[in-house]
Amino acid sequence: MKGRVFSGARPTGRQHIGNYLGAIQNYVKLQEEYECIYCIVDIHALTTLEDVSEIQSNIREMILDWLAAELDPRRSILFVQSHVPQVMELHTLLSMVTPLGWLLRVPTFKEKARMQPHNVNYGLVGYPVLQTADIVLYKADTVPVGEDQLSHLELAREIVRRFNNLFGPVFPEPQARLTTYPLVLGLDGVAKMSKSLGNHIELAATPQETDAQVMSAFTDPARRYRSDPGHPDVCNVYTLHNFYNPDQRDLIAEQCRAAAIGCVDCKKLLSQGINRALEPFRERRAAITDSYAGEVLADGAARASVIAKETIQEVKEKMGLL
Ligand code: TRP
Ligand code: SF4
Repeated sequence: MKGRVFSGARPTGRQHIGNYLGAIQNYVKLQEEYECIYCIVDIHALTTLEDVSEIQSNIREMILDWLAAELDPRRSILFVQSHVPQVMELHTLLSMVTPLGWLLRVPTFKEKARMQPHNVNYGLVGYPVLQTADIVLYKADTVPVGEDQLSHLELAREIVRRFNNLFGPVFPEPQARLTTYPLVLGLDGVAKMSKSLGNHIELAATPQETDAQVMSAFTDPARRYRSDPGHPDVCNVYTLHNFYNPDQRDLIAEQCRAAAIGCVDCKKLLSQGINRALEPFRERRAAITDSYAGEVLADGAARASVIAKETIQEVKEKMGLL
C-alpha cells in the first residue's frame, strides 16, 4: 500500500521561487510515490494574523500557483483546512492528552511569543496540537517539512504515542521527511526568501518584473568595480544560477572570478534563465479559471471529509464519547 503524505502551508498568497524550490517542487514529486494530501491552513494563519481581509485572496492565489505548478487534483487531495471542520474537533480532543509543558517548550512558540508579545493567544500555544490534528485526522504517515518544523513533528509523534497508549492504537506515528533543498536566500542575499521581507521573486511575476527584481539583487559586496574579481561562492545571484542555469554555472563562476563578466550581464543571464524556466508555469496559471480552482477545493474538501469523519468516529469511540 502507498504511504500517505500530509502537508500544510499557510495561505501566504502568491508563491515565490523560494517556496517552489523549498517545498512545492517536492510536493509535486511526492505525488509519484504517495497518496498526497495538501492543505492550505487558514486556521493556523489566524494565530498570527491581525488583518483577516486578505485570507480569501491569499487562498485563491495560492491554489492557482499550486495547480500551475502541477499539484494534480486527480491524484492528490488539495483543500482548505477550515473546509473540513472536524480538524477543530480533533484539536480539542488531542489537547486533552497534551501536557502544557510540552507546548511551552516548543521553540517556534517561544519565538512567536517574542515577536508578538501583545498577542500571545491560546491558539498560538496550541498551534502544534492543531498541526498534529491536521496530520493524524487523515492518518498520514509521512510529512514533508523543512528543518524549522522538526520540533512540531517530534511533538506530533509524542502526542500520538500518548494517545495510542491511553486509548489504543488509532494513529500511525508520523515521520518527518526532510526536504533536501537548501534554504533559498532572498534578493538581499542575507535572509531567507520571504514575502514579508519583500526579497522575493513571485512565480507568477511577469518577465519584466522578474528582470527588474533580479537587477535589484545584492551581489558579492567585495566587488565594487567591474574590474574587481568576484567571489561567486558568496553571491546569491550565483546560487540562483545553480537552480536556473545549471549548464552555464561553471563558466559564470570562472568569468566572475576573472572579472570577465559584469554583474549586470550576469543578472541578465539569471533573469533569462528564470523566465525560461517559469514560462510554462506562467502559461498554465493564466489558463486556470477561478471557477475551476473553486471546484478543485470543493472536491478536495469532500474527499478529505470522508476520511475525517471516519477518524473522528473512531476517536470518539475510543475516548468514551459514543
Ligand atoms: N506549521 C506549518 C508551517 O508553519 C504549517 C502546517 C500546518 C503543517 N499543519 C501542518 C505542515 C501539517 C505540515 C503538516 O509551515
Ligand atoms: Fe555575483 Fe555574477 Fe556578479 Fe559574480 S558576476 S558577483 S556571480 S552577480
